[in-house]
Amino acid sequence: MLYHRLVLGFFGIVLIFTNTVNAQNKYVGVKTCSMCHKSEKQGKQFDIWKNSEHSKAFQSLTTLKADEIAKAKGLKKPAAESPECLECHVIGFGVDEKLLDKKFNYKDGVQCETCHGAGSEYKIISIMKDKKKSVSAGLREFKDTAAIEEFCKTCHNEKSPVYKEFKFKEGWDKIKHSVPKP
Ligand code: HEC
Ligand code: HEC
Ligand code: HEC
Ligand code: HEC
Repeated sequence: MLYHRLVLGFFGIVLIFTNTVNAQNKYVGVKTCSMCHKSEKQGKQFDIWKNSEHSKAFQSLTTLKADEIAKAKGLKKPAAESPECLECHVIGFGVDEKLLDKKFNYKDGVQCETCHGAGSEYKIISIMKDKKKSVSAGLREFKDTAAIEEFCKTCHNEKSPVYKEFKFKEGWDKIKHSVPKP
């Protein structure tokens, strides 16, 4: 019994340790992900993202319309500098510099790591090829389609000042980026 408790205790510590490591993962930015995710064979995830509205989510905050929305909400700063707007339009704004790779740019908007998690530990090819290892290194796991929909709705909801009803299936068809089946 004591042995078991010691073993469990040991794994408990390992788990806490792993979580702390994950909490330190850095955002590496879409340029880094794109190195391996733009070929035809890989499924052109970079191009699909680039052509989606998500890549323009920061630019949308630099428009006159955005500033008018921000002003109407009583915000003191322009939209592109207001955390109240940036929270859904970018990642990594105001984050400790130590957690950002040199190539990371928050102006890339809603990028790969917004949805997949900070990539510094899982972006290595030997880990990437193994889903289990990637997930333990910080890749976000989606249990099923319902979990994906729920995740989208953390931004696609009434808190968006220009909210349109979010139709998950239509939206997902527009942005999904599967690896082609061989
Ligand atoms: C050094 C090359 C490389 C880099 C850099 C890289 N990946 Fe990958 N990634 C791969 C390979 C190879 C696979 C396996 C693809 C397959 O299934 O054929 C993969 C798989 C994936 C998967 C699918 C995992 C699964 O099994 O469901 C996701 C999601 C992913 N990468 C996201 C990212 C993100 C986000 C970044 C940037 C933080 C990134 N990758 C950077 C090479 C890379
Ligand atoms: C971090 C917040 C965030 C998450 C998570 C997110 N989105 Fe978005 N999405 C946005 C923002 C912001 C825009 C508006 C970009 C713009 O036009 O500037 C947008 C725009 C879109 C658009 C284009 C506009 C439209 O309504 O047709 C589609 C499609 C879309 N998202 C689908 C999805 C899907 C599917 C998911 C889940 C897999 C998802 N999004 C997750 C923030 C997010
Ligand atoms: C809860 C997340 C969320 C917050 C907070 C948010 N947005 Fe957005 N924003 C979105 C999403 C999602 C979209 C895509 C359209 C939609 O809502 O379906 C979007 C789209 C936009 C667009 C593009 C609309 C178009 O012209 O196509 C503008 C401009 C915009 N937001 C401005 C703002 C401003 C300004 C703020 C801050 C006052 C803000 N947003 C805060 C999620 C958010
Ligand atoms: C709006 C959220 C969102 C963005 C942005 C996004 N992804 Fe994904 N991605 C997903 C979801 C959700 C899945 C499906 C995961 C699943 O089925 O387990 C996925 C799946 C993948 C897969 C696996 C596809 C397969 O067939 O197994 C790869 C590879 C991938 N994404 C890479 C990227 C890269 C690279 C970028 C940036 C260029 C990116 N993603 C941007 C949400 C996103």
